[in-house]
Amino acid sequence: MIILQDKNILVTGASQGIGREIAITASKLGANVTVVGRNVEKLQETISLLTGNNHKMFAVDLAVTEDLDKLILQSSAFDGVVFNAGIVEYLPVKFLSESKINAVFSINFDSNVLLSQKLVKKKLLNKKASLVFISSISSKLGVGGTAMYAASKAALVSFSKVLATELAPQGIRSNSICPGIIKTAMTEQANDIASEEEVKKAESEYPLGYGEPADVAGLTMYLLSDISKWMTGSDLIIDGGFTLK
Ligand SMILES: NC(=O)c1ccc[n+]([C@@H]2O[C@H](COP(=O)([O-])OP(=O)(O)OC[C@H]3O[C@@H](n4cnc5c(N)ncnc54)[C@H](OP(=O)(O)O)[C@@H]3O)[C@@H](O)[C@H]2O)c1
Repeated sequence: MIILQDKNILVTGASQGIGREIAITASKLGANVTVVGRNVEKLQETISLLTGNNHKMFAVDLAVTEDLDKLILQSSAFDGVVFNAGIVEYLPVKFLSESKINAVFSINFDSNVLLSQKLVKKKLLNKKASLVFISSISSKLGVGGTAMYAASKAALVSFSKVLATELAPQGIRSNSICPGIIKTAMTEQANDIASEEEVKKAESEYPLGYGEPADVAGLTMYLLSDISKWMTGSDLIIDGGFTLK
């Protein structure tokens, strides 16, 4: 049985898309959920969709250290953290700039490193807590134009593995998930720069079609729950069979 009864779970990037679905599903399984993002209205909407009343929201920019500190200061200990906030940037390598590199890495990688470090240092992770990093299948591919996104997500997988080793003595687990394309606002952004024909062709390369936020949420629930208690340091692909070819 996957249950999260009375577990305190932090979900970053929960104002929409995959993060929102993770928050909703965790609340259905009994968790007290803390949702984080920048957009206050969208976070309030997420809160209104949660089952139960014991939930909190923090409107912070995770790429800003002072905001991270604010979040840490106002938090109590967590049994699970889902590091989901992220952005995508499509740019061929020859058009990259220092500011573009920093913009992607600061939220997709640095903020997750700093948040997890602060949670550890302030003893805000309960014994047997589960950390879940939402990476991407891009971390394992070489799709043109995705250099910074793919590299930031690959760095996240490596970071999660090292964290798994360092936190195992405290019984804390760390795993990452590498989803293929999931239908959210983020993928609509990609569709905006492609023709209708290209969009259809891209989806046809997924044996099971594109995924939905609920697909990632389901796997996340498994990792957050005690049913996966012997699992740490893994990176799990969930991609509707895309990488079978
Ligand atoms: N969709 C896909 O196909 C796909 C595939 C593989 C992996 N992923 C990964 O899954 C995660 C969620 O993707 P999604 O499709 O649900 O994206 P999305 O709909 O664009 O949502 C991204 C979330 O991240 C939050 N966020 C972004 N920058 C932030 C910042 N500086 N501070 C705080 N929150 C921030 C956004 O909240 P605010 O705007 O309120 O700040 C939003 O809630 C991302 O890490 C993405 O890379 C997505």
